[in-house]
Amino acid sequence: MKDIFKAPFIIEMGETTANMYRQGWDERNGGNISYMLDEAEVAEYLDLNNVIRTIPTGFDAKKLAGKIFIVTGTGKYFKNVQKDPETNLGIVRISADGTTAELLWGYKDGGKFTSEFPAHMMSHIARLEQDPNHRVVCHSHPTYTIAMNTVCSTDEKDFTHKLWQSNTECVVVFPDGVGVLPCMVCGTEEIGIATAEKMKEHRIVVWTNHGIYGTGKNLDEAFGLIETVEKTAMIYMLALGHTVNVIPDDIIRGLAELWGLKMMDGVLDD
Ligand code: 13P
Ligand code: ZN
Repeated sequence: MKDIFKAPFIIEMGETTANMYRQGWDERNGGNISYMLDEAEVAEYLDLNNVIRTIPTGFDAKKLAGKIFIVTGTGKYFKNVQKDPETNLGIVRISADGTTAELLWGYKDGGKFTSEFPAHMMSHIARLEQDPNHRVVCHSHPTYTIAMNTVCSTDEKDFTHKLWQSNTECVVVFPDGVGVLPCMVCGTEEIGIATAEKMKEHRIVVWTNHGIYGTGKNLDEAFGLIETVEKTAMIYMLALGHTVNVIPDDIIRGLAELWGLKMMDGVLDD
């Protein structure tokens, strides 16, 4: 058996959570990540027949039966993942009936996965239906994105337009736009269902007054989506009340045409 502390997925989870913490997006226990792993790769590090304990999933996760995820622990701080991955992370496999998760490694102090597990797992289901290469769901509390929520409507077309108008990278990085949910009680099945519904159309979903979800085929991609929205939200907020130039719609359209991208419908006037 190889040393799990040297596994690329453990190292990457440590690096990503540390980066997010240093950006100031993940105060205290804010944020959570889940990353679907390849069974054969995990088997190089763990005996897959050794289930440490089972943890109720809290919802019907049957569509993910047998899938293995590395997931940040509830109440755990992103800043601590790198120095103690075995306490702050866990590797779980969804049981055949989808009602429990089998702990294969981690949560060493008796802990469990993030309280946002339903939103993560339901988002994985929704994104895998759109893209079989999808692997990562990343939730964070980036400062300027949340600030934008306090001064912008929750209309996702309007929110997406404001981002596309503020930074030419935006339409190129997320032509599919940003899904926006109103302020809701988090950590529930309801917010999971609502998030997954948005994930059918978008790889990024903003939870008003709370934070953001980014998804992708790897950690870099999910992080990069959040990073691009957050940087642009920063530009928007720094310029708020002083705006003279925004990117015209014909330039946004031109960028999408140049890169052969299909834009979210209804954001630009026809
Ligand atoms: P957890 O500590 O349960 O992951 O919750 C943090 C969070 O960001 C809730 O939305
Ligand atoms: Zn949160």
